[in-house]
Amino acid sequence: MKKSEILKIYKDKIKELKKHNFLYFNKDNPKISDAEYDKLKVELIKLEESNTSLKKLNLLQNIIGSKPSNNFKKIKHLKPMLSLSNAFEKKDMEDFLKKIDNFLNQQNNNLELYSEPKIDGISATLIYEKGLLSKGLSRGDGVTGEDILENLKTIRTLPKKINGIDVPNLIEIRCEVFISKKDFIKIKEKFANPRNAAGGSLRQKDPRETSKIPLKYFAYGFGAVEPMIFTTQKEFLKKINNWGFSTNPLSETISGIEDIVKQHQKIDDLRSSLDYDIDGLVYKVNDLNLQKRLGNTSNAPRWAIAYKFSAEKALTKIKNITIQVGRTGAITPVAKVEPVNVGGVVVSNATLHNEDEIKRKDIRIGDTIQIQRAGDVIPQVVLVDISKRNKDSKKFIFPNKCLCGSLTKKEFSKSTKKEDAVRRCTKGYECKFIAKEKLKHLVSKEAFNIEGLGKKVVEQFWDLNLIKEPSDIFNLNFDKIKTLEGWGNLSIENLKKAIFKSKNISLEKFIFSIGIRHIGQENAKVLAAFFISIKEFSKLFDKGKISQILINLKELDGIGETQIESIENFFSNQMNTKITKNLINQLTIKNYSRKNISGKFSNKKIMFTGGFDNMSRSEAKSLAESNGGKVLGSVTKKLDILVVGNSKPTKKKIDQAKELKIQIMTEKEWNKMLNS
Ligand code: IVH
Repeated sequence: MKKSEILKIYKDKIKELKKHNFLYFNKDNPKISDAEYDKLKVELIKLEESNTSLKKLNLLQNIIGSKPSNNFKKIKHLKPMLSLSNAFEKKDMEDFLKKIDNFLNQQNNNLELYSEPKIDGISATLIYEKGLLSKGLSRGDGVTGEDILENLKTIRTLPKKINGIDVPNLIEIRCEVFISKKDFIKIKEKFANPRNAAGGSLRQKDPRETSKIPLKYFAYGFGAVEPMIFTTQKEFLKKINNWGFSTNPLSETISGIEDIVKQHQKIDDLRSSLDYDIDGLVYKVNDLNLQKRLGNTSNAPRWAIAYKFSAEKALTKIKNITIQVGRTGAITPVAKVEPVNVGGVVVSNATLHNEDEIKRKDIRIGDTIQIQRAGDVIPQVVLVDISKRNKDSKKFIFPNKCLCGSLTKKEFSKSTKKEDAVRRCTKGYECKFIAKEKLKHLVSKEAFNIEGLGKKVVEQFWDLNLIKEPSDIFNLNFDKIKTLEGWGNLSIENLKKAIFKSKNISLEKFIFSIGIRHIGQENAKVLAAFFISIKEFSKLFDKGKISQILINLKELDGIGETQIESIENFFSNQMNTKITKNLINQLTIKNYSRKNISGKFSNKKIMFTGGFDNMSRSEAKSLAESNGGKVLGSVTKKLDILVVGNSKPTKKKIDQAKELKIQIMTEKEWNKMLNS
């Protein structure tokens, strides 16, 4: 074809595209389907690719936008993007409902939920200021996202401007971006699944690339909204749908566990007929006021849960059974299986959980088994096909020693009064398998967050004797690392920077990082709020002081006997003490500082005793904190207010408070104060 002919075709198509853009955006009256529109766009991109002179005309660029994304500038979310807790079975959903009732201090109130499909795509957040789309961010780490506005803008069905009379001045819309199953077929050679394709497309540096793959989205939530005009999740979705956002049509209100189970099954049955991937249903408390009361734990809301669909299954054969040692010494048996594709992912390992599970299912090497994979969790063995078993197969004998050679034992749990199902290595850092896992935990995202020092690198550096304990991370032999394959000047510089940056760590992250058993992120925060400084925390090393500290810790919400025992064990181990002290010497540990929230209890130290009529202790605590207060666990001189609940308050605490002339607040006064 002659150049002039190509140019004509190109210009005609450009004209066509402009016309449809005008009809869509200005007239709100599209004349072609999204698919036809996308096809037209792709044809133009292809023409440009095979005729570079056309690209130089910048015609298409002016229409669809192609400003490079500035290397994905980092922008802080107005409100953090949290994740969801998962439910896998009815019992998990029952627990979810029970926990909500407990928190709200109500019983079986047949809470109204709103159920929505959980779209298996990539989350994004859109900020509209005075109705205009001004920012578009990826989730990132939940606190800070990447500026992918230009890429998001290529989604034609995504409003660039919200038309409506009651649009808030500021609204942040959360959505899930995906590629339809049909569209995925066209590009399936390039990506493992639609989700990866959507992710790849959204993160393209050049939005023109993004626009080649037709992306779609469903909006499901909000972040900041000013002023707040919604009262329920259902109403929110209906309203934004009227404003032009795509919302999922399979959403509905529901209550009661039996109906939840039925509805979950109903959508699961529909799953394969939908043109987009879903991996479960999200159940949200419909009433936004209740959502607010429930709040969140460190990374997931208490008012929502993802109830996953049953897992994908496949048959395979066990080649061998080995054991893995976790950072708490837990010995997990793992089946090495003949590689098999389970729902798009090749699986060669499956967890066998623990010794009892192997006994119960009589799992043996050589057995044919059915395995299942649910979400990101390690595949599990569902059943053993005994009819396929070899006659000479033998029962599996569970090793009673750790990989390090030390003895293992099952602990007796004081709280459940039962023997633990998990066998554990009796050593700590002395076991090299535990030590490596502890190091991996220490560098992980939630802990020191050292980019470039992932699990594999920790293994490699361990084998090369470069890192044997945490403090070694801060004295790495970079001359040696330089000689290793895959390490160039740039990656070394980046690693140095990441390590240097991580030296400045908050007390709560530090406490979480050192890996005391039963001290997760939440408890680490509670401990940090108690100790405030590393100096105070370090008193745990002092044999003369630790027992009194442990008594005081007992008073803290969330810290029970199990945690106390675990802290005691940790600090009574000399190796732990030595390693932790060495680590502290390398760091600048920031004092715990509560965000200074101004509110009714700004800077007030509050304590509760007794139960409340209309709220649980957890809610009272979170209300005190969100109003700027600090919750203490014992009556001391430092306490400002003792709030006395109507149900069974401790007389001793009231007497102590009176003696110290501390303000005493009744439940009625507390409620009045909150509502004032
Ligand atoms: S609500 C506060 N609703 O799932 C958390 N999330 O695992 C709000 N997702 O990051 C999440 N469909 O990307 C919610 N209908 C839906 C969803 C949904 C997909 C994704 C979302 C989120 C992730 C959480």
